[in-house]
Amino acid sequence: MNASDIDLTGQCALITGGGGGIGRAIALCMADMGAKVAIIESIPERCEQFTELMKERGGEALAINTNVMEADKLREAVVEAGSHFGRLDILVNNAGGVAPRAFKDLKEKSWRRHIELNLVSVIVATQTALPMMIEGGHGGSIINVSSIEGSRAAPNYAVYAACKAGINNMTRTLSLELAEHGIRVNTIAPDFTETPGTRGNVTGPVDPSKWTEWTEGQRTSVRSRIPLGRAGIDEECGRAAVFLASKMASYVTGVILPVDGGSWASSGWVRDSKDHWILPPEA
Ligand SMILES: NC(=O)c1ccc[n+]([C@@H]2O[C@H](COP(=O)([O-])OP(=O)(O)OC[C@H]3O[C@@H](n4cnc5c(N)ncnc54)[C@H](O)[C@@H]3O)[C@@H](O)[C@H]2O)c1
Repeated sequence: MNASDIDLTGQCALITGGGGGIGRAIALCMADMGAKVAIIESIPERCEQFTELMKERGGEALAINTNVMEADKLREAVVEAGSHFGRLDILVNNAGGVAPRAFKDLKEKSWRRHIELNLVSVIVATQTALPMMIEGGHGGSIINVSSIEGSRAAPNYAVYAACKAGINNMTRTLSLELAEHGIRVNTIAPDFTETPGTRGNVTGPVDPSKWTEWTEGQRTSVRSRIPLGRAGIDEECGRAAVFLASKMASYVTGVILPVDGGSWASSGWVRDSKDHWILPPEA
């Protein structure tokens, strides 16, 4: 093994929802490792911001202003990214999100939008990218961004969690179907991660000066239930995605990789105020 095994020079990556949060971190980390990157992003100011950022770094990039919930436009955007670079090696299905609400109160319009955003867009982007990846003949890497909520019960997140569970199982299935083409399929499953979305910055450019402060209750909750004792940083998903895309993971496919500070492992155990691990209702 040598340091070049993590190098993505010559690879072309497309990241949905790449203008902010985890998607942007993945795009920037991949660019740092030499990849040419394209993003699909629904907020125009974030497309401009991304282009500027990439100019400063001197990397090759393309930002396409498209809403992944519009299937035809998403198809066009994926094809545009592939033709712009002349190849497509890495697809990151990251765009997603949730408006939490009790299942009994969820309106049909809302749950359908959740499915369009969190599951249908993944299917559409993957199906569109595949012919380009297969014809390219270089193999490739598909990385989905799921969530810890795809593997556990998630009150008030029922449809979102169902979509993420769907992504997890599609990951395993496609890893078999695409193995003969040298295309690996894996998923990153974050828990609570600091992003514009989790800090209330959901319109306009990414602007940390406008992020909402955490309450003491939120800090205590994060400390008690996440073993590493803090929220994730978007770049930590970026690094995991680089690993999965690179030669470092050449024998890794069909995997759901938690990037969650140990939350999935903790499975109900929480840390009390004296830093002892307990199972509630001892708390
Ligand atoms: N942040 C977390 O705590 C967390 C935890 C688990 C899973 N996730 C998953 O990670 C992914 C990214 O989350 P995030 O926190 O970085 O979100 P975010 O809101 O901070 O950033 C998402 C980016 O995607 C863009 N986007 C959203 N909807 C889009 C659409 N329809 N079309 C095109 N672009 C769109 C947004 O404008 C934004 O720039 C999501 O799939 C989410 O479910 C996040």
